[in-house]
Amino acid sequence: MKYRKLKGVQDILPPDISVWQFIEEKASKIFRSYGYREIRLPIMESTDIFIRSIGETSDIVEKEMYTFKDKGNRSITLRPEGTAPFVRAYVENHLNNEPAPQKYYYMGPMFRYERPQANRYRQFYQIGAEAMGIDDPKLDAEIISMLSLILKAVGLNGLNFEITSIGCKECRPDYINALKDFLEDKLVEFCSDCGRRFKTNPLRVLDCKVPTCVKAKKGSPPVVDYLCKDCGDHFDQLKHNLKKLNVPHTINPNLVRGLDYYTKTAFEVSSENLGSQSAVAAGGRYDGMVKEFGGPATPGIGFAIGMERIIPLIKDSFDTTDGPELFICPLGEKEAEKALQIAEQLRSNGIWIEVNYDNTSIRSQMRKANRIGAKNVVVIGEDELNNTVAAIKNMTTKEEKRVNLDSDAFLGILKK
Ligand code: HAM
Repeated sequence: MKYRKLKGVQDILPPDISVWQFIEEKASKIFRSYGYREIRLPIMESTDIFIRSIGETSDIVEKEMYTFKDKGNRSITLRPEGTAPFVRAYVENHLNNEPAPQKYYYMGPMFRYERPQANRYRQFYQIGAEAMGIDDPKLDAEIISMLSLILKAVGLNGLNFEITSIGCKECRPDYINALKDFLEDKLVEFCSDCGRRFKTNPLRVLDCKVPTCVKAKKGSPPVVDYLCKDCGDHFDQLKHNLKKLNVPHTINPNLVRGLDYYTKTAFEVSSENLGSQSAVAAGGRYDGMVKEFGGPATPGIGFAIGMERIIPLIKDSFDTTDGPELFICPLGEKEAEKALQIAEQLRSNGIWIEVNYDNTSIRSQMRKANRIGAKNVVVIGEDELNNTVAAIKNMTTKEEKRVNLDSDAFLGILKK
């Protein structure tokens, strides 16, 4: 029987893995320059934390979570996103005791039971950042600017940064009333889910992708028209600071996020070149979540980048060719011992060296060197061993150089 991977997941193999590593390294460097430190959190959590924060009526909680009972009959969920687990860890580990802003980043898999399609997976990877303890809109502008820098550094251009404000618990009730007034006349046109959402959480109606609902909610009042003074000022300051930082953006008053925890600032970055799953990254402020999780009232803001969304955009321009610096072809047992010694010493200098293990002909060894992309090749036969001198061949220029059979001599040539 042949086993196959599950639907909606992927094996990430060489040479593609070098694109992943490139993105992770670029992001880590930029995070460091902004003072964000890495955290690694569990992949599974108590189901409650997601219901409480993402929202009972959100698509993620209603339809997309991988939830199961463990052997102790506890309800466990594979994390569908990173912010709720982060806030759980923030509260549990008293991270609020450190000076604000406390800034963290994470990289890892998330799980959502969505219908798989191009660039949409059931196991997908995010690079996320969260900054806690400061509610100043300068931080909002700074984190969006950092996101823009990361996306630029990995080679992405022409992205669309959309921002909005979705208000706070003070101004949201007014907005919900206005939205309900607008939606009420159109109830018959909505899908059954939206009929229910209208009663439980009308904001979620805005998130529905069913074509009749999309049509029916056209012209609904924009949330930015209902912001209280505090939220309005915060949004104005954000726009002002984004301008000062030269982060191009558009204001989308109809931007809807699929997670209930957001307050004030919300944003999404998209690319025209990705088809229907165009969101490359998204985030926003969640000033109420720490308190909701039992911690002291603490504002927070963050974002997550979808790895599978950026990789198709940069992969083609990326050189994934890779191979050892040196391939050593020994022609006998004694030669193989010498080859192994030289290889070990060179590897301790951090250089990728391969040694051929079988006593095949020079021709077949050279063929193998080519297949694995070796940059240099050296053949060690009886003469080379006796004279302690061999010829090292550069596989690109075909140039040969004499080299003593000791690792220092090789090092001199390979390091050039
Ligand atoms: P989100 O918008 O649900 O936000 O996801 C962020 C990004 O993850 C999306 O923009 C997209 O690039 C990627 N993504 C989401 N679902 C999939 C999927 N099924 N397959 C591939 N990529 C996907 C969050 O997750 C929030 N936790 C972001 C955040 C952090 N907000 C504040 N802090």
